[in-house]
Amino acid sequence: MSPSPDTAASVPFATLVIVAVSCALSLTRAAPADLVDARVEALLSKMTLAEKLGQLQQLDGSADGNFKPEHPDLIRKGLMGSTLNVRGAARTNALQRIAMEQPRVAVPLLFAYDVIHGYRTIFPIPLGLAATWDPAVIERAATVSAKESRAAGIRWTFAPMVDIARDPRWGRIAEGAGEDPYLGAAMAAAWVRGFQGDSYAAPERLLACAKHWVAYGAAEGGRDYNTADVSERTLREVYFPPFKAAVDAGVATLMSAFNDLNGIPATANPFTLTDVLRGEWHFGGFVVSDYNAVRELMVHRAAASEAEAAREALTAGVDMEMVSRTFAGEVPKLIEQGRLSVADVDRAVTRVLGTKIMSGLFENPYAPEGAEATVLLSPDHRAAARESAGRSFVLLKNAGHVLPLATTGGPVAVIGPLADDQNALLGSWPGDGRAGDTVSLLAGLRAKLGSGRAVLFAKGCATIACSSTDGFDQAAAIARQTDTVVLAVGESADMSGEAASRSSLDLPGRQLDLVRRIQEAGKPTVVVLMNGRPLTIGWIAEQVPAILETWFAGTEGGSAIAAALVGDVNPGGKLPVTFVRTVGQVPFYYNHKHTGRPPNTTKYTSKYLDVESTPLFPFGFGLSYTSFRLSGLQLSAATIPSDGSIRVEADIENTGARPGDEVVQLYLRRAAASVTPRVETLTAFRRVTLTPGAKQRLSFQLGTAELGMLDRRLRFVVEPGDFQVMVGTSSVEGLTTEFKVTAR
Ligand code: NOJ
Repeated sequence: MSPSPDTAASVPFATLVIVAVSCALSLTRAAPADLVDARVEALLSKMTLAEKLGQLQQLDGSADGNFKPEHPDLIRKGLMGSTLNVRGAARTNALQRIAMEQPRVAVPLLFAYDVIHGYRTIFPIPLGLAATWDPAVIERAATVSAKESRAAGIRWTFAPMVDIARDPRWGRIAEGAGEDPYLGAAMAAAWVRGFQGDSYAAPERLLACAKHWVAYGAAEGGRDYNTADVSERTLREVYFPPFKAAVDAGVATLMSAFNDLNGIPATANPFTLTDVLRGEWHFGGFVVSDYNAVRELMVHRAAASEAEAAREALTAGVDMEMVSRTFAGEVPKLIEQGRLSVADVDRAVTRVLGTKIMSGLFENPYAPEGAEATVLLSPDHRAAARESAGRSFVLLKNAGHVLPLATTGGPVAVIGPLADDQNALLGSWPGDGRAGDTVSLLAGLRAKLGSGRAVLFAKGCATIACSSTDGFDQAAAIARQTDTVVLAVGESADMSGEAASRSSLDLPGRQLDLVRRIQEAGKPTVVVLMNGRPLTIGWIAEQVPAILETWFAGTEGGSAIAAALVGDVNPGGKLPVTFVRTVGQVPFYYNHKHTGRPPNTTKYTSKYLDVESTPLFPFGFGLSYTSFRLSGLQLSAATIPSDGSIRVEADIENTGARPGDEVVQLYLRRAAASVTPRVETLTAFRRVTLTPGAKQRLSFQLGTAELGMLDRRLRFVVEPGDFQVMVGTSSVEGLTTEFKVTAR
């Protein structure tokens, strides 16, 4: 069949786009650039407009992983190019066979899935993984996830979510790296490296997707899908950096967000989708819309019809449409009416086809059948999940050294609605993870203590919602019979993640009453928190001697928590997000501005009358079973020119009796600048492991990238001025010294 007239007309333009796409992606591709260009061009020249639009259409399968009855026929006709949620080697191969063998122009399907923190072996939620402050842990989690996904026919993950979240009411805070752009950028790059490796065409790698572009986490009131109104400065300083890091790490795709951004929905926003992404960052992959987000432009009232929605999204820079079908349905008419050109379509198709070619899909379209049985949930993967979880825990309090628990002695009470909950540990977006595979805290502790200590169990509340006190008496009785109490409280898996915003950050239902009741038993008590967001736990922080934050720790959560409780693992994680005292303090993030009236005890200052101005636990905070001392802070110079660099060195020493980890954090504070500076900004960090008595000298180099700022015209400059550097163990504790940057 010959190409349609519209395709023939588009070739010269397409060639230009192809060159741009392939140049920008040359780092991650398997095939040389001009070969990709030629292949894209050859395909395009054969395709009808409908087939091209088919490449821009992604459709959903069923929740159970199957495809929909209409899919085979659409594929045969070349009318869909990608699925989401269809998974399992046999199913993906069955569909792929149709795509490779039956259409007029064979183009393999791209199978996508939300592999957020694991496919079948589930790692801690991303917020927990960010609490490791260890990019290597994230890389490993992503590598394992990619391997399992590939065994199940998945080629593309909708991860990482790199949205900065400063409002813990927003349930999706669980899916990202927390509140800080620097930590977020480090984690974003690690996720991309882990999923994609050196080449996403390699047999055990996935295409990654940085989402949700952009400022989705800035939803007003923390309510999911809500409007974001963010200045360009804040976009550039806070919300963009993790995406930029993902693009620099070679991320194959981005997802456009659901939210309205400064009056123009992110899915129809030419400034973010084209000016910044393509113009400034030279991103060469493709952009997929979020689920139905193109059609929702009508619900935003940004488009009056599906045709308008399609035109706006496509021209702004969305390449593939997830689920809604406005491109396929409306674009042909728009072209006929002269309201859209074939070149607009070719630009998007070129990006999609280029990525498919570079991913090796044409050469290796099928999943190896039979691999799932050995790859999924393999002992190695479980071990990786367990180790990752162990590194994600944050010890928030340990008064009187209640922890670690002795492994022999009197009975231990394990109490709480989360203590034996296998499902909660999987958190939101559990991939294909199964509760039945998961080790609960109770099971983990029983296995760990063996016959050394008896473990008695009471749920206390029938459910996590804990709406009644019926089980309290029994739980209190058990607490009284034992020597130590481990009390597991927190949220259910579905209380965070998408569409799971909360107006309260308190423990759900009567859980706090349960904690009070158990505390009355007077036994040394450890609260183990399981949650997808920072919670307001003021009473617990004051009254209960030990608190271990474990997030949702994944398939091996219970084993890892048990190991941490008995000290086989020494908690070394740090908070990637501020814990407020009360929800009324939100948003509260460490790198805020000074204001003209910083809070103090006098009346006319920036504070609330009814709560302290400090957080309950600050960003970067976390204790250990051992102790550390920082010393010897030194700079390579007292003054440097604005194009120079400076070395910061300090010693970190384990002064306690156990091996342990410290995360040394470097914060910069600027005395004054042409644009009001933040009180401090995280600029470097390193997690180190030290044996008792060991001392390590750390060195951080700060150059233009670290010392620069956006001036009044949003140009990146290093402004002369006075700096204070803090090398610390949290955002509020450390050694400080000063240096000066002078004009060149
Ligand atoms: C909607 C979510 O916002 C997005 O994160 C996810 O990847 C898609 N649904 C697909 O499941």
